[in-house]
Amino acid sequence: MLALDKLLIEGSSKLEGEITVSGAKNAAVAVIPAAILVEGKCIIENIPKIKDVYLILDMLKQLGANIHYIDNSTVEIDCSNINNHTAPYDMVVKMRASYYLVGALLGRFSKAEVAFPGGCNFGVRPIDQHIKGFEALGAKVEIEHGVIYAQVKRFEGTQIYMDVVSVGATINVMLAAVRAEGTTIIENAAKEPHIVDVANFLNAMGANIKGAGTDVIKIIGVNKLGGGTYCIIPDQIEAGTFMIAAAAAGGDVLVKNVIPKHMESITAKLIEMNAQVTEYDDAIRVVRKDKLIRANVKTLPYPGFPTDLQPVITIPLSVASGTSIVTEGVWDSRFQYIDELKRMGVDIKVEGRAAVVEGVKRLSGAPVKATDLRAGAAMVIAGIIAEGTTEIHDLMHIDRGYENLEKKLSSIGARIKRTSQGTVL
Ligand code: EPU
Repeated sequence: MLALDKLLIEGSSKLEGEITVSGAKNAAVAVIPAAILVEGKCIIENIPKIKDVYLILDMLKQLGANIHYIDNSTVEIDCSNINNHTAPYDMVVKMRASYYLVGALLGRFSKAEVAFPGGCNFGVRPIDQHIKGFEALGAKVEIEHGVIYAQVKRFEGTQIYMDVVSVGATINVMLAAVRAEGTTIIENAAKEPHIVDVANFLNAMGANIKGAGTDVIKIIGVNKLGGGTYCIIPDQIEAGTFMIAAAAAGGDVLVKNVIPKHMESITAKLIEMNAQVTEYDDAIRVVRKDKLIRANVKTLPYPGFPTDLQPVITIPLSVASGTSIVTEGVWDSRFQYIDELKRMGVDIKVEGRAAVVEGVKRLSGAPVKATDLRAGAAMVIAGIIAEGTTEIHDLMHIDRGYENLEKKLSSIGARIKRTSQGTVL
């Protein structure tokens, strides 16, 4: 059964006040399967309350893990008694991060059978670098009938050069190598904050990983990981969404529970666009009073401007003075959302991986569909600044990755409410 909720947004709002960022989605969806490698109780704090987290927790439960919430953002996971290495299609199809089950099950049981993952559609989403890493460690990997079969007789540390900078492949190979014999070196590794978070989690459980956050990660295999307590980092993309929302709508917003260092590419871009951004120890204030100015944005792996904020930054650019060019440097196809935005008066043309955005005077509210998670957040911001009423449909994408987005934004002045249109079977 599918609930047909929609968001109704009355536009032309300024944003003012304080807003708090939750734990990082893309760290949580990797740390939770990483707990499979741990024989003991893991207490994980600052877990975001989002669908993707509930889904991955459910997958672990189905594999035999004991899971219970200590409070609404702290969960205890005990995978000591898991003895199943199979994750079928029904279990994994709903989210991309289910590919971490391959690395984690392989690392724990030397065997994994995991159906091909689902997730947002940005064109081709290959996993060849994950497979290359597993094979370099000695695993035999086959894909048949939509299932990844991987097994290894003896995991041996090795040197792996990633042909593409990939968040998922870096984390997955780290998971598989943590309990291998000897030392594994991942070169051309991704450097995103959640890679460091997964390494810190594994180290807190007894692993020996060095260099996470640089492009060379060294993993010295250990026999066993025991339990412990770990706190997930704040969500860089949620924080960036709020910073960009403040700049787009104008006003004065203090974004709390952030690591300002993670936000540098966004801070720099918003300053270039005429916002004032002040960094504190664990908060960032964004003030925007004057007209937004055009800017070019190119998305890149961290520490570049994050691809996940590409649809979001397009909204303030769409009402800035002048012409901006937004270039997608990570995914082949991440502009599918623009046809929806055009309904709201955004003037945008796409040529391959670049979009040319002509600043317009104002956007106008319209019914739109959230085509994916981050495009959905972009449409919410478009609704906040547009004249009139915007209706956003297909909220399941937004709910996958943002905790209470409409409640949080309402608390700083947005006029958003969720309404239910019933259910379909
Ligand atoms: N790639 C390959 N081969 C591989 C893996 C990736 O060619 O084996 C290519 C991809 O096609 C893409 C690039 O490498 O062009 C980067 O992909 P990456 O593997 O880094 O992406 P991912 O791990 O599948 C994660 C996030 C995405 C985010 C990307 C890039 C999670 C669960 N997902 O995906 O987040 O866009 O990194 O930063 O961590 C989101 O949160 O909305 C989201 C889509």
